[in-house]
Amino acid sequence: MGATASVLPDGAKRFHPDQLTTKTLRKEFPEFAGNLRHLKIESLSSKISFKQDSGKIITEDLENGGSETGSQLRRAKFKWDEGGDVLQRPRSAVVKLTDVTEVPQMKLLMTRSWIKRQIVRYLLGGEGGKYLWNLIPRFILAECAVRRAMSEVPRLDKLLTPLYFSRVRVSSFPSQAQWAMYGIKAVPSSWTVQGMAEIKPPMTSADGPTGHYLTSNVTENIATAVLEGLARFHGACWGMGRESPLVSWILDINSTASTLTLYYPTKFGLAPYGYELPDTNAPMSRGGDMRFTKMNLKKFISGLGLGLKEICAEYIDVLRKLQRIYARVRNEICNVSDGKPGERQPSRYGYSQTMLHGDAHAWNMFWNLNAKHSRDRVKFIDLTNVGQGRCVWEVYYFIVQSWHCTDWMQLHRVLSRYYNALRKNCSPCGNARHGAKSKQKPTEGALGASHFANSNDRANLDSTMPFAAFLREFYLLAILHCVHVMAEMKRSGKWSGSSAEHLTRIQREEGPKGARVRKDVVYQKLLVTRVLRLARDILRYAGGCIVQSL
Ligand SMILES: Nc1ncnc2c1ncn2[C@@H]1O[C@H](COP(=O)(O)OP(=O)(O)OP(=O)(O)O)[C@@H](O)[C@H]1O
Ligand SMILES: [Mg+2]
Repeated sequence: MGATASVLPDGAKRFHPDQLTTKTLRKEFPEFAGNLRHLKIESLSSKISFKQDSGKIITEDLENGGSETGSQLRRAKFKWDEGGDVLQRPRSAVVKLTDVTEVPQMKLLMTRSWIKRQIVRYLLGGEGGKYLWNLIPRFILAECAVRRAMSEVPRLDKLLTPLYFSRVRVSSFPSQAQWAMYGIKAVPSSWTVQGMAEIKPPMTSADGPTGHYLTSNVTENIATAVLEGLARFHGACWGMGRESPLVSWILDINSTASTLTLYYPTKFGLAPYGYELPDTNAPMSRGGDMRFTKMNLKKFISGLGLGLKEICAEYIDVLRKLQRIYARVRNEICNVSDGKPGERQPSRYGYSQTMLHGDAHAWNMFWNLNAKHSRDRVKFIDLTNVGQGRCVWEVYYFIVQSWHCTDWMQLHRVLSRYYNALRKNCSPCGNARHGAKSKQKPTEGALGASHFANSNDRANLDSTMPFAAFLREFYLLAILHCVHVMAEMKRSGKWSGSSAEHLTRIQREEGPKGARVRKDVVYQKLLVTRVLRLARDILRYAGGCIVQSL
């Protein structure tokens, strides 16, 4: 396909999908649109409903295809002139525009008050804050860069849809100090537009709103198929490290940047290179997750509102046990690294193993369980968070976000299917790394390099992470995440005392404000229930061996 991508100079025109015309497409992307006769842009919006605890149905308009990050998504319908390759003349495409200043998570960039910006700069001043800051421009560049790189890596192209055209614009992103001084004016226009193949039935994605695992309709078979797709990705990239084409574009811009996946460390409470990340929802509250171990649980739980007290009270004994073991769990898995030269030795489970999709929930996946070849069963979209990490992060994330699994045996069936698929997809062939897969050997002295000395990925997996070690890491990560969720709840203060009473009043209101709070409450309860239940099961069925071995 005629995929083009370029980083544009200052002042380059941004293409909002709604403003795309036949003429612009023909002019800007002649390789793709040279034969285009007519273009029509349609909305990708839909309505969805889900149930609250009270039984009340919440209906929500999903604009932009349900985009979580405020991207603009539209469907383009094409009519073509005769001639040219039929394969290059699709009837439709999905056009996605992401602009850094329109992403809700980036609202901070808009801070108008000079004083507030100085305070934010002070609060983000540590190493963890710098890590978060440097990730902002990467968001914009990632999707196109990764798509192009994935088509270079054998066995990965099948996991993606073709990219028809793309544009990226990111020029020099300001330092924290420049931004604190000049505000949004210091942030250059940064955006990316992509036109990609539309994934159509019989391939389908999860139902309901993103992350609502109760309504996702993900069954054991679907969870298995998606995890086998992820295993194919993880296996094909096993041990590639910072030289992998999937992340080396980050180093072309800044050779000392982190290539870790962006999102999972913030989500689970991991500490890249040993630096705990600031909580952007409560930046004033210092002390991190360790404060959880000193919390008066009874007092904290009895102060919770919005139905969270009732959920947490049932698990007070579980939480007490977590308070006792948290510091040791943290020692084993928290300090994570991608092999950046000169960084501290990571924890036992802190070495990056492979490339991760980085936001692998079921609403970013499409599947067709009836596809003849297993390699055609799963497709991924939304590649903004691709980066290095541990495969357990992705497996755990997919499961807790997307699949309502309450059965311990069923969970383990799926975990073992994933592990077997990973083992199958890790190459037993020494040449794979040095040949097509990655042109360079891991650099001498890079963290974990010795693990890959013989370049036999399967042997490496067997020796560094047999199935029992994989399971143990899954349990420890679940415990870490559970503590992180509780510690965040304490830090934000939003769910307790007078703030919770205020939210209770607002959620009864009609209109968008009430609807937003109702949605937040539904999601918080889902998350808390999920992490507590899993932590309880882990302590109940595997607690003995975990605690003893810590
Ligand atoms: N190629 C495609 N074919 C069919 N549907 C698509 C395609 N790309 C996106 N969509 C639909 O649009 C939704 C949003 O797209 P996408 O996940 O890329 O953006 P996003 O949600 O803004 O990103 P994030 O998940 O980081 O918030 C998807 O969940 C999917 O339903
Ligand atoms: Mg998405």
